[in-house]
Order: sequence, then structure tokens, then C-alpha cells
Amino acid sequence: MDEAIRTSMLTKRFGDITAVNGMDLSVKKGTIFGLVGPDGAGKTTTIRILCGILLPDEGEAFVGGYNTVAQAEQLKEYIGYMPQRFSLYGDLTVMENLEFYAEIYQVPRRVRRERIKELLAFSDLAAHVGKLADQLSGGMKQKLALSCNLIHTPEYLFLDEPTTGVDPVARREFWKILFGLKNQGTTIFVSTPYMDEAERCDEVGLMYNGDIIRLDKPENMIKGFERELLSVSVDNIFKARDYAGELPYVEDVYIYGEELHIIVSDFNYARDRLALDFGDKNIKTFDIKKISPSLEDVFITSVREMKKDMEVRRGA
Ligand SMILES: Nc1ncnc2c1ncn2[C@@H]1O[C@H](COP(=O)(O)OP(=O)(O)OP(=O)(O)O)[C@@H](O)[C@H]1O
Ligand SMILES: [Mg+2]
Repeated sequence: MDEAIRTSMLTKRFGDITAVNGMDLSVKKGTIFGLVGPDGAGKTTTIRILCGILLPDEGEAFVGGYNTVAQAEQLKEYIGYMPQRFSLYGDLTVMENLEFYAEIYQVPRRVRRERIKELLAFSDLAAHVGKLADQLSGGMKQKLALSCNLIHTPEYLFLDEPTTGVDPVARREFWKILFGLKNQGTTIFVSTPYMDEAERCDEVGLMYNGDIIRLDKPENMIKGFERELLSVSVDNIFKARDYAGELPYVEDVYIYGEELHIIVSDFNYARDRLALDFGDKNIKTFDIKKISPSLEDVFITSVREMKKDMEVRRGA
């Protein structure tokens, strides 16, 4: 069986809020699945259900063939779960934290030492075993947290925004570890706010308002973006954005870093008109160029479309 995770019609409600809305998902063994989406999209709720910590209201989920409700206990042996706010014991050393988790996960004593040694080498923390967890840098803390969740050699690893707030270099190191795990056959289910991380996943689900609104390989998502995208630099980006939104030939506009990204149906027409139209409003245009979309463009536009759809439906 090469299916690692499967959900069907998975639903979770909190009062009036539907945090997960009839989710159907399948993740292949030995792959990295990325879950992205804005705050409150339902990422943490999904992960908690998959780890057997939260009960769904409807539908079901299987991890490694285990039903996350009926077989939650067996499931725990095979999964590692690093919550969004995973806490290490700050007043314990690196080594003590690892030993503590080895105890919690009931790693047999005879393999414990060997396993800890492996993890320390893996995470490059061997030189820091005697340091208190509180004294580690952010990136090291996350690597230690990951190591603690790997102590029992899980086949399925669930990571909820494991690198949030960690600097780019440390994030890259963290991902190197994830690739190492993947190569050993571990299935990884990870939520992340970072697009460079999403691009490293085999498959990505974009979650919005409890629904997976896009699901594909990152490269396919980018290929599937079949509209003309302009990157425009101007002297007054907010005014330009608001005004561009009113222009009939502009389909969508949003701020992307220091530039405006504008989606149009006809590049040549827009290129000729845009600077003139901005000029009429005393907005100076420095540069207009056609660009290929990034994964972030795909996500931003997908979420914006979804929002518009919902507003239209609500208004109707
Ligand atoms: N225990 C709870 N009680 C009530 N509402 C909850 C609970 N847990 C989550 N929610 C709500 O469910 C929705 C989804 O929350 P969830 O934490 O899964 O989102 P998320 O995608 O992980 O967001 P973030 O990116 O901020 O971590 C939100 O509207 C949230 O307020
Ligand atoms: Mg969350």
C-alpha cells in the first residue's frame, strides 16, 4: 500500500465555525505534503485530527491504515507530531530533553543511547548537548524539538509550522533534515507559511476557510496559472493599487513586496494604457514588465478569487 494518509469527507466544527469542511485527501507514502493557507484556514485542526488528538464530527481519516479515532492508540506509535507551539523543557539540557522524550515515547533503553547519538548527528546538535534548551538559538530549538519528536523513529511525521520565526539559513538546514527523513521513507505532513518551503513539497494543498481550494504539485500549480501577470513599480503603491482596481482591463491587483502585481487579460493593451492611466492620477510609473508567477502569486490569487466568490454568494 503506498497510501500513507487518507481522509474522506473529514469535517470538524467549533460552534458556528467549520474548521475543516468535508476534506478528501490522499498522501502517498514517503512524500512530503505541504499544507498552506491563511490564519484560521484549518491547518492545525486538520493535523490534530490526523494525529488522533481531536475527534472529527463527520467523515474519517486514516494514517498508515489506522483509523484516527478507533485506532488512535496504535497510531501514536507510528507518528511524530510537532505542534505549532511545541514546548521544550527550557530548564533541561539538550540531552535531558532527548532522554525525557525517549521516556515518554517508551523507546527501549537498549536502543536509546544509539538513537540519541544518531539524532544529535542528524541535527548537528552534538556540540550543544550540555546547553539548556532555553539557551539555544531559534533554529537550534526547532531542530531539537524535531529530534524529540523523532526519538521513536516515526513513519509518519506531522509538523505544524515548524520553522515559523526561524531565520532563512536555519530553515534551510531544517529542511535538509526533512529531506533526509523522506529519503529514509518517512512521510511528512507539514504546514508552513513560507512559499519557498511549500515549493519543496511533493504536493501542496492550499487551505482556505476549511476547504482545500487547490491541490497539486507546486510546479503544476505554477504552470496552471494561465493569465498575464505584470510587475509594476510606481511611486505611490497604495494609490496605484486602489486606482488599478477600478480599471476595466485589470482583473486583479495586489501588493507583492515593493511592487504591484497586476493580472490583465491583454498584456500589450495594458502595457500601453497603464502608465498613461496612472499618469492621469499623478502616479509615476518606473517600470512595467511581464513576469512568470510564483507559487505565492498562485496562492494569493486563488484565495482572492475564493473570497470574492463567497462575497458574491453572500450578497446574492
Ligand atoms: N478549540 C477551538 N475552539 C473553537 N474554535 C477553534 C478551536 N480550534 C480552532 N478553532 C477555530 O477553527 C478555525 C481553524 O483554526 P486552526 O487553528 O485550525 O487554523 P490554522 O490554519 O492552523 O491557523 P494559523 O495559521 O493561525 O495557525 C479558526 O477559525 C479557529 O478560530
Ligand atoms: Mg495553526
